[in-house]
Amino acid sequence: MVIRGSGDLTPTDRGLLYGEGIFETLHLRPEGPWLLDAHLDRLAASAALLELTPPTRADLAALAMRAADTWSAGEGALRLIVTPDTSYATVSAVPAAVRRERREGLRLITADLGVQHRPPWSLATAKTLSYAENLAAKRWATRQGADDLLWLAPDGSALEAPTASLVWLAGDTLCTVPPAETGILPGTTAAHLLSRVQELGLRTEERMIKAADLAEADAIWLASSLRGLAEARTLDGAARAASPWTPRLLDLLGY
Ligand SMILES: Cc1ncc(COP(=O)(O)O)c(C=O)c1O
Repeated sequence: MVIRGSGDLTPTDRGLLYGEGIFETLHLRPEGPWLLDAHLDRLAASAALLELTPPTRADLAALAMRAADTWSAGEGALRLIVTPDTSYATVSAVPAAVRRERREGLRLITADLGVQHRPPWSLATAKTLSYAENLAAKRWATRQGADDLLWLAPDGSALEAPTASLVWLAGDTLCTVPPAETGILPGTTAAHLLSRVQELGLRTEERMIKAADLAEADAIWLASSLRGLAEARTLDGAARAASPWTPRLLDLLGY
């Protein structure tokens, strides 16, 4: 379902012609859009990087709430889309594959992104509408017999997945990759998770990790708004035991 915000989508919209627009995907819960403030913060940061003037925060929040009101089928996916000419929201079901990976985990492979340092004009920290490359990466992973892939820098450092952040457990420390240092998208789910896990007795750390060391981690997850967490049950073909932390963390996040 599409919920209109401002303006009209025209065939010459730069969002359509060049992917020069931004979006956010939120987990829709019976109590409303989850982590709305954090998503509006990131939308504003993405808009600034694209030098795009979005509707006001109040208007975007109102759009999100109107969209949420149209959904009554349990959990859902809420997208906020902003282009130079228009803004609108969509609501839909959470894809079955995403729900399955949350329950059963996924087969993860690593792949060199071929980028060690981002150029000054990089938009990798913005959530732009140019996701064709990200989706192509996921299709490539599927062709390799995996469910998803983890991008590595040429020096072997883990970065992020095409639509998710990397989170891993090392002893009693839950870790994620520092977005500021690496130029990856700052994930709202991973940030929220790390702000809450002290309640379960875990420490937290943002740090870099090489793929070889990641293989030694106690558990590996992909984190994103619709997934919540999906545990890697294989990494580059090597089987990994299910972590007892997966249900605890999912529960903490409310999935
Ligand atoms: C490239 C990338 N990294 C990380 C994430 C996770 O972000 P979030 O937790 O805010 O959904 C996403 C979400 O789609 C993404 O596309």
